[in-house]
Amino acid sequence: MRLQVKDVSFTYGSVPALENITFKASGGEVLGIIGPNGSGKSTLLRCLARVLRPRQGTIFFDGKNLAALRGHEIGRCLGYVPPPGGQAGFPTTVVETVLQGRRPYLTWGVSRRDLEVVSAALGYLGLTPLAERLLGELSSGQQQKVFLARALAQEPEVLLLDEPTATLDIRYQLEVMALIRRLATKEGRTVVAVLHDLNLAGRFADRLLLLHEGRIFAAGKPAAVLTPANLRAVYGVEAVVTEAPWGIQVTPVAPATAAEKEARKEAALARA
Ligand SMILES: Nc1ncnc2c1ncn2[C@@H]1O[C@H](COP(=O)(O)OP(=O)(O)OP(=O)(O)O)[C@@H](O)[C@H]1O
Ligand SMILES: [Mg+2]
Repeated sequence: MRLQVKDVSFTYGSVPALENITFKASGGEVLGIIGPNGSGKSTLLRCLARVLRPRQGTIFFDGKNLAALRGHEIGRCLGYVPPPGGQAGFPTTVVETVLQGRRPYLTWGVSRRDLEVVSAALGYLGLTPLAERLLGELSSGQQQKVFLARALAQEPEVLLLDEPTATLDIRYQLEVMALIRRLATKEGRTVVAVLHDLNLAGRFADRLLLLHEGRIFAAGKPAAVLTPANLRAVYGVEAVVTEAPWGIQVTPVAPATAAEKEARKEAALARA
């Protein structure tokens, strides 16, 4: 098993953010993490990326305790892309930033292979024409693509992506999700992606973890997790869930409270 998370809890000061999180992810798998604002998705990803240290519990990477891995090993095992925003202003160019992803492999300077990998990563994300531009002078979506390209250039076995499509246009939402899918299916990598877009989650993820107030509320295949009952309980939303040929589709219709009020009104009218 590539990634094993056992009974992980995390607290910011006295605020509990994750409680008793347990799950596994194997090679070739795309695991989507979904849940409302503040439910603990980013905290979980930061624990997996070793940015945060869990208060309790253990994370295993290929059977080894993540906490015991050394710096250069981490770089080859895990690639982490934080959520969009707050990373701009660096005086580096796009190509220099993506080349940073090759750091875990650099020995005596930049090799031909390093350049090939960087060039491919730029190409996948449509960044080749922007290669010499300064990162701080790009739009937020363009910057997000650069950070994704840097993680791709790192060629890690596990990619940890926090809202990778949040700032992308509809074409690149699909391009990035399809790329993630290929990396898992064709190259056997593991992708753990935090997603707010339930349609992308339902279409591209093999399994979903639905977080609610720091705990796993539901886990399993998209059809089992994206149910109207789960969406009502966790997001407080009435939603229509359909199965399209390309995957599960979720249409949020109304906040549950309003919908419930409406249902009660209609029931009262029907009785009158
Ligand atoms: N640096 C911090 N200090 C204190 N509390 C924090 C910090 N970061 C997050 N929290 C709290 O931890 C909980 C989980 O936050 P987290 O960022 O993991 O949520 P999330 O699911 O990623 O939400 P979003 O969808 O808004 O990104 C929230 O209650 C949040 O207020
Ligand atoms: Mg978050």
